[in-house]
Amino acid sequence: SDPDLVARAAAAKAALGDRVFVLGHHYQRDEVIQFADVTGDSFKLAREAAARPDAEYIVFCGVHFMAESADILTADSQKVVLPDLAAGCSMADMAVLSQVETAWDVLTELGVARDVVPVTYMNSSADIKGFVGRHGGVVCTSSNARRALDWAYGQGSKVLFLPDQHLGRNTAVLELGLSLDDCVLYDPHKLNGGLTPEQLRDAKMILWRGHCSVHGRFTLDSVNDVRERVPGVNVLVHPECRHEVVTAADLVGSTEYIIRAIEAAPAGSAWAVGTELNLVRRLALAHPDKQIMFLDRAVCYCSTMNRIDLPHLVWALEELVAGRVVNQITVDPDTARHARAALDQMLALPG
Ligand code: 13P
Ligand code: SF4
Repeated sequence: SDPDLVARAAAAKAALGDRVFVLGHHYQRDEVIQFADVTGDSFKLAREAAARPDAEYIVFCGVHFMAESADILTADSQKVVLPDLAAGCSMADMAVLSQVETAWDVLTELGVARDVVPVTYMNSSADIKGFVGRHGGVVCTSSNARRALDWAYGQGSKVLFLPDQHLGRNTAVLELGLSLDDCVLYDPHKLNGGLTPEQLRDAKMILWRGHCSVHGRFTLDSVNDVRERVPGVNVLVHPECRHEVVTAADLVGSTEYIIRAIEAAPAGSAWAVGTELNLVRRLALAHPDKQIMFLDRAVCYCSTMNRIDLPHLVWALEELVAGRVVNQITVDPDTARHARAALDQMLALPG
């Protein structure tokens, strides 16, 4: 990266000292991650944000929904900054509040809403988290989806899982032992989700039709192809991947899990990793004694994560030094209060 920008970022951080805390998601660029005070998956970063009451500014190098969650979990006086406002998440955008309210109306008319506990993946807008909190549900991340679902099925007999169908299905089927027939896919663009009243009444798991455009690109062919090319390879994937990919893989887990698995792997072992490319490249560089490769032949970054680049980070930090807060992310107090209930429920999950 540009040495002048590196020096400017370092100088701005030094000038701000403890007043600023920089969080970096594992999918961020190298040029950005070098300035993170802490790196993590979305669960770890949510906890870290909540654990920094003394930092006046939280600069979130990640995507919009993560910065919103940080704003909800931090004190009113703390300001959360997202260095590029265009860093969104296509999956989070697949569940819009009005669509979810319509789905809830459908469930209410069928008389089943009272049995349904809504669960939303962290990768959703604050509006959606607020909806879930209002209806007694919980937020989950890829590191605690199983525990969140265990909790939810202790509260009601059905779950509405937003917005990632793959995390919902993979966790329900592979970890809770539900069958694929217990799950239905609710399409917000179709009348009644494209489902019959019987399907909605019988389902234990109502999956929202959302997915991650990055992890959704791995296919069964990617797995078969790498197994053919690299005999003995271990296939390690994120649970946002399609069900057939996760089923064919050797190990599945969140980004933190993936990092720990690679760290614990013996020297000389081969790993094909199905998650975002910035992370896989860094893992390969950090473990030259192991053979670490991207699961697919095609290159696949998360384009919105990549929007946070060094020029944007330098700009945001230098503006803070000058006393100006740019790109502040705020959630309105009413939404924040309900979203916080669903986030606190997640943070209180046992284990
Ligand atoms: P985790 O950070 O929870 O592993 O999720 C991955 C992701 O896609 C973040 O946007
Ligand atoms: Fe969203 Fe997928 Fe990018 Fe994560 S990797 S921010 S889920 S599009």
